[in-house]
Amino acid sequence: MRKKYDENNLPKHIAIIMDGNGRWAKKRALPRLVGHSAGVEALKRTVEAGINFGIKIMSFFAFSTENWQRDAEEVEGIFDIIRKYLKQNKDEFLKKDIQIRTMGEIERLPADICDEIQEIVENTKNNKTIIVNIG
Ligand code: FPP
Repeated sequence: MRKKYDENNLPKHIAIIMDGNGRWAKKRALPRLVGHSAGVEALKRTVEAGINFGIKIMSFFAFSTENWQRDAEEVEGIFDIIRKYLKQNKDEFLKKDIQIRTMGEIERLPADICDEIQEIVENTKNNKTIIVNIG
């Protein structure tokens, strides 16, 4: 059977813009925040796939400064999704040897999230399997 990809010619770095969470939810008559949670689940599956393919760096553009203009309820909801993601995954990053790095002005995020991220970045800085940049 013909191979669908050449394992010796895979990209070293894949960058992804997270988009369409709202449209995904709208199509299913669900609240936008459900779409954002599904987006984070997709991010997790994508990192898993990256690890399985041996990709060394993945970058996710997740929360741009434009997103601060969204209504306060949505922005707060996104922060809660980020809090949950960090809490549920910080041990996983160590177990799976994932190095987390950030891009952009993370100091603009709420202080508790910013502190948690900085701790994760510090704790994972020597991990080698994959680098995941989140910004
Ligand atoms: C675009 O969807 C996506 C976002 C605004 C990103 C939302 C951010 C998160 C879910 C947090 C990411 C968290 C981590 C931990 C990386 P959209 O609302 O613009 O969708 P639309 O274009 O369909 O309206």
